[in-house]
Amino acid sequence: MATQAPKIFVTGIYAVDLVFTGSRSPLPGETVSASGFMRSHGGKGSNQAVAAARAGAETSFFSFIGNDSFGEDARAFWRTEKVHDKTTIIQGETTGAAGIFVDERTGSNSITVFPGASRLMRKRDIDTVESDIAASDVFVVQLEQPIEVALRGLEIARKNQVITILNPAPATALPDDIFALCDYLLPNETEASLLTGLPVETTEEAQAAARALLKKGVRNVIVTLGEKGALYCNEQETFLVGPVTVGTCVDTTGAGDGFTAGFAVGLAKGLPVRAAMEFAAALAGISVTRHGAALSMPTLAEIESVLETHNQ
Ligand code: RIB
Repeated sequence: MATQAPKIFVTGIYAVDLVFTGSRSPLPGETVSASGFMRSHGGKGSNQAVAAARAGAETSFFSFIGNDSFGEDARAFWRTEKVHDKTTIIQGETTGAAGIFVDERTGSNSITVFPGASRLMRKRDIDTVESDIAASDVFVVQLEQPIEVALRGLEIARKNQVITILNPAPATALPDDIFALCDYLLPNETEASLLTGLPVETTEEAQAAARALLKKGVRNVIVTLGEKGALYCNEQETFLVGPVTVGTCVDTTGAGDGFTAGFAVGLAKGLPVRAAMEFAAALAGISVTRHGAALSMPTLAEIESVLETHNQ
C-alpha cells in the first residue's frame, strides 16, 4: 500500500458548464422555459482532476484554455481545489464550454460540448509534460480533446511504467493501436457498444462487449452500467460491483467522471480492483445527489463515511 499521497496525472478539457434544468429539452424550432439555471465548472478531464484531488490524490491537470474570463475562473478554481495546473493559455481562443440540459424529474442529462482552445492540443504538447506523467502513479485521459493527445499520453505513461486509464468519452471510433496501451478501459454502455459494434443493454451484453475489447488488446475493462453498477472483466475473472445509493439522484452530470477518478485514486493507493471500484462507486453515488459536475464531487472523508456505512 502506498504511504505517500497517491499521484494522478489527468489530461483532457476544461469547459464552463451552462446548466438548464427543466421538464424537457426543446425540439427543433421550439423554445421551452427552464425551471432553473446555473453556471458551473465542467469538462470531463477537469472534473476528473478535481474529483481525484478531493478524494485525496496529489493531482495534475494538463490542457489548453483560452485567454478569457472562463479560463481565469478555471485557474482560480484549480488553485482552490489544489489541482496542479499544467494548462497553457492560447491567445485568441475561447475556453471550452458546454450546454447541459438536466431533467428535473430524473436527474439525467444531455450535453453539447465545444472544446475551445483544447481542440488545438497536439501530441507534441503532451510531450512537454512527460516528466510529470512519469512521476505519477496513474495516468487518466478521455476523448474530448484530439485522440492523438490521448494516444501519445498513453504511450508516455506506458513507457514510464505508469498505470494507464482511458475513459473513452464521448463515444467515438478509436485507432486500433490505442487499445493495447490501456491497462484499464472504462466505457459506459453507449461507448462500449460503439467501440465493439455490439448491443450493450444488459449485463450479459456488457460482458460480451468487454470480452471483445480484451481481444483488441485492453488489459482490463470496466463497463459502467449506471444504476446497475459496473462490470469488471479481464482474462481471468468477471464480476459486478453494485451502485452505492446515498440519496435522491438530482443530477447525473459528471457521475462517470467521478467513477473514473475514484477508480484511479483507488488504484494509485494500491487497493485491489474490487475495492477501487467500490471507492469509485461511493464517489459517484454521492456526486449524483448534488447539482453540477466538478462541484458535486465529494471529499475523501465523505467517501470513507459512505463506505463505512455501506460495508456494515
Ligand atoms: O462528463 C460531464 C461533462 O461533460 C460536463 O461537465 C461537460 O462539460 C462535458 O464535458
